[in-house]
Amino acid sequence: MLERVAQLRAVLELELSQISTVEQADGFRLRHLVRKGTVQQMIDEMRSLPTSEKPAVGRELNVLKAHVETEFATINARLQQNRKQQPTIDASLPARRTGHGSVHPIVATIQRVVDIFGRMGFSVAHGPDVEDERHNFSSLNFPDDHPARDMQDTFFVQSNPATLLLRTHTSSVQVRVMETVAPPIRCIMPGRVYRNEAVSSRSLAEFHQVEGLYIDRNVSMADLKGTITAFARQFYSADARFRFRTSYFPFTEPSLEVDMSCFLCKGDGCRICKHSGWLEIAGCGMVHPNVLASAGINPEEYTGFAFGFGLERIVMMQTGIDDIRLLYQNDVRVLQQL
Ligand code: PHE
Repeated sequence: MLERVAQLRAVLELELSQISTVEQADGFRLRHLVRKGTVQQMIDEMRSLPTSEKPAVGRELNVLKAHVETEFATINARLQQNRKQQPTIDASLPARRTGHGSVHPIVATIQRVVDIFGRMGFSVAHGPDVEDERHNFSSLNFPDDHPARDMQDTFFVQSNPATLLLRTHTSSVQVRVMETVAPPIRCIMPGRVYRNEAVSSRSLAEFHQVEGLYIDRNVSMADLKGTITAFARQFYSADARFRFRTSYFPFTEPSLEVDMSCFLCKGDGCRICKHSGWLEIAGCGMVHPNVLASAGINPEEYTGFAFGFGLERIVMMQTGIDDIRLLYQNDVRVLQQL
């Protein structure tokens, strides 16, 4: 019998050490400490032992009972206390709203542009923000003394020799694409560009452009006009009218600037178009033969067009915000409105 008391003790000790919830404590109590529990059962059995054995077994059982009861009381008290400290949950309270983020208007605009050109068969390419002088200027037919190379406009990363710079336009990516992809090429290149300009409500030193490049046999100005018009009709409005003005870029010949009838006043004149009825939307032109040749494409065999436009201006026009800096202050109240 003494042996069975020792066994019971071992079982109880083990179970006590494993109790970690109020429910487990209750289970323990119901199995062992109630009138029909294991401890009381053994006490009842002891009563029918021969008188000579009773005292020893009885002592052991009393010690065991007292021990288990105090141990259990301590554990149970601690668990009850913890339960009280836990916050009570009121499942009927309405949920607290958590704000969820949204795509920044500049990124959303890039996605729309990529989508529209994607349906016209254009893929997307990227180039590095830190560029070398050759990809940003020389290969784009900029003469060595062109004023755009001046420190005024370009952030040089390395001053001596001044060969590494922050790209001043996404046209540098055109060169990289032409150097690595054999024609036909149909590609748009969105990205961040940098110019050493005073920050004001109309200009930033860091902004975004989308570049486009199309190179194949027999590409003409008609393709250029058709592509830009098709894009702008989808992007802005189906009834937009366009005008192409001659312009100058070293890397295109001829070079053009594209104006679109103002999408707000349809040409009557308003605040957005500064009462001219027209909005300037892009620079473009036929890729200069020197640019093709320096990228290893034979200008006798291939021709192409390129275009580039600034994204911040588009977002400003469409949202009606008149200070470009609002786009980058990350004021959630502004961003939620755009
Ligand atoms: N890179 C020119 C700019 O930054 C835009 C442009 C791109 C013009 C492609 C013609 C062709 O102003």
